[in-house]
Amino acid sequence: MPQYIYSFKYEAHLLDLCQLEARQLFGQQQQDNILFSDIKIDPSISPFILGRFEVMRTATDYQQLLKLIRMMNIQTDGFKVDYFSLEGDGARFEERQKMMKDVGYSIFAVPDFKQPSVVYSICTDQKQWYFGKLKRHDGDWRKHKNKPFSFSNSIDIHTGKTLVSLASKGNKAHALLDACCGAGTVLLEGAIAGFNISGCEINPRTFYHTVKNLNHYGYELDIHLSDVAELDKTYDGIIIDLPYNLYSASTDEVTQNIIQSAARMSTRVVIVSISDIEEVIASANLKVVDQCVVEKRGYSKFSRTIWLCEHR
Ligand SMILES: C[S@@+](CC[C@H](N)C(=O)[O-])C[C@H]1O[C@@H](n2cnc3c(N)ncnc32)[C@H](O)[C@@H]1O
Repeated sequence: MPQYIYSFKYEAHLLDLCQLEARQLFGQQQQDNILFSDIKIDPSISPFILGRFEVMRTATDYQQLLKLIRMMNIQTDGFKVDYFSLEGDGARFEERQKMMKDVGYSIFAVPDFKQPSVVYSICTDQKQWYFGKLKRHDGDWRKHKNKPFSFSNSIDIHTGKTLVSLASKGNKAHALLDACCGAGTVLLEGAIAGFNISGCEINPRTFYHTVKNLNHYGYELDIHLSDVAELDKTYDGIIIDLPYNLYSASTDEVTQNIIQSAARMSTRVVIVSISDIEEVIASANLKVVDQCVVEKRGYSKFSRTIWLCEHR
């Protein structure tokens, strides 16, 4: 039995992005919004993961699961019980409350509902019942939607958050760079999830917007006002949300300069573009290992391709 169960939720137009992230974090796609894995990921780094359930016991029926929980003789004071609804679980509110009570009475300790030291939980995928520890997604990052400065063409916060998990593969110790940080959409998501991320922006006015946005939420990050070509460091992952006016020869040069600079500093580069840049990627000695298209929606004027690249 895999150690962890993850549950997913996403808007329909973001399904491909969600699956790209799942492939990169877990080496597999989620199915019916559920994914079983031995890989431990903080659910709050993904905009799509609702929670991580650490499996401690499994049973084919509910009463048997309660028996197994009692046999564990858990005596951890300060616990809380939560119910984790997986796709297809039709249990109503009252039923869930009753089951949480059953589990609570099967644990021989004093609960703490306000500040629990551990959250125990049960869930079912209609085939088995599971008992374990639950870590729910922290949705505080959604406050970034109201950041003081934004461009009309800024990427949405879901994409921004996913770029960080793609570049890092979920490892918070990895050193990351947002090479073209604009107003800081990606940096805000890296900062709130506790990633080691820094930024670079060539335009002083835009750089000032990033500074203002980071200050607004009290994040302290290392950010550079410069051409990314001037940076002289190495990173585990680099994110590039390319400038959008890519239709003239001179801007092809800009694209090339940015991607080649990134490839010099990191073996893993995640690029967002609105046009086909496969040749530029190849000329920087990178190969595309995975990709997806995020369709335009709302105020967004164009679809974007996300290219996940590594050194050849
Ligand atoms: C598409 S915008 C990034 C938007 C950002 N992801 C956001 O959501 O706010 C691209 C940014 O790259 C910056 N840029 C262009 N060339 C650059 C270079 N050589 N080095 C660093 N930044 C560069 C532009 O000034 C622009 O702000």
